[in-house]
Amino acid sequence: MTATRVNFEVNATESSKGLPPIGDSSLETRRAGGKAIVVRDVEMVFKNGSQSYHALKQINLDIYPGEIQLLMGPSGSGKTTLLSILGGILKPTEGNVSLLGTDLTRLSRSQLANFRLKHIGFIFQEFNLFPALTALENIEVALNFKGIKGRHARQEASLLLDQVGLADRARNLPRDLSGGQKQRVAIARALAGNPQFIFADEPTASLDSQSGYAVITLLRKLAKEANRTVVMVTHDPRIIDVADRIGSLEDGILGEGHSATTSPVWQFT
Ligand SMILES: Nc1ncnc2c1ncn2[C@@H]1O[C@H](COP(=O)(O)OP(=O)(O)OP(=O)(O)O)[C@@H](O)[C@H]1O
Ligand SMILES: [Mg+2]
Repeated sequence: MTATRVNFEVNATESSKGLPPIGDSSLETRRAGGKAIVVRDVEMVFKNGSQSYHALKQINLDIYPGEIQLLMGPSGSGKTTLLSILGGILKPTEGNVSLLGTDLTRLSRSQLANFRLKHIGFIFQEFNLFPALTALENIEVALNFKGIKGRHARQEASLLLDQVGLADRARNLPRDLSGGQKQRVAIARALAGNPQFIFADEPTASLDSQSGYAVITLLRKLAKEANRTVVMVTHDPRIIDVADRIGSLEDGILGEGHSATTSPVWQFT
């Protein structure tokens, strides 16, 4: 297996042109191949004893292969809940979620686990690294679960760590890594096994400008060159330019677009 590689030392200020506008021919070509994700009439109600909370309301969403979809919105608006439903981590109370034509809501627990293992890379908001394993081992274990073992797993894990600029932290435990370094290990782990779908919850939240730009460049490259489908939850206005589409959540309702930003925006060539 060959990982898609980017130069991690890319300089955010050197970027120029930005993405072509939505509707250009390359996007149309990508969309001609069918939908990667179809969400229909999804509702999510959390129940705790006698209390219930309606976290997502009537969510409908289509995402195509090779697209980068952002989910934005205030804290508590339902971003992580929606991403978790897309990634098969949470089952919606109502509605359907299809990935590659497979309706996740109809799969058994073990079928869903297999589907996730094969097709989904998930970057958690809280990283969820194994505390007793080194950075390298955290990735190696993910590869082992995907059937890549021994020397091959170690080599691939090293490559992935190198790809996120952490080759020199391979033997560190998570407690000996900074927040941004843990985030990058979590990103490398999500890319293990080269999944078709990458779901990322605030992937740049703990990253400085250079690391954040490099991570987003890597995800963009996976989408545009390897036709991976990337869904990112973010509060980070610097990412806006990378998106093919932006969904805005407000009190569990999904709308299009985002509010204007005066913050610096990374541009991607
Ligand atoms: N397991 C749960 N039980 C009850 N309520 C929950 C549960 N998980 C999430 N919620 C509620 O659902 C709403 C949406 O939560 P979610 O984590 O999706 O928000 P978010 O948009 O990701 O916020 P943030 O930007 O702070 O991460 C919140 O009001 C939250 O308290
Ligand atoms: Mg969240």
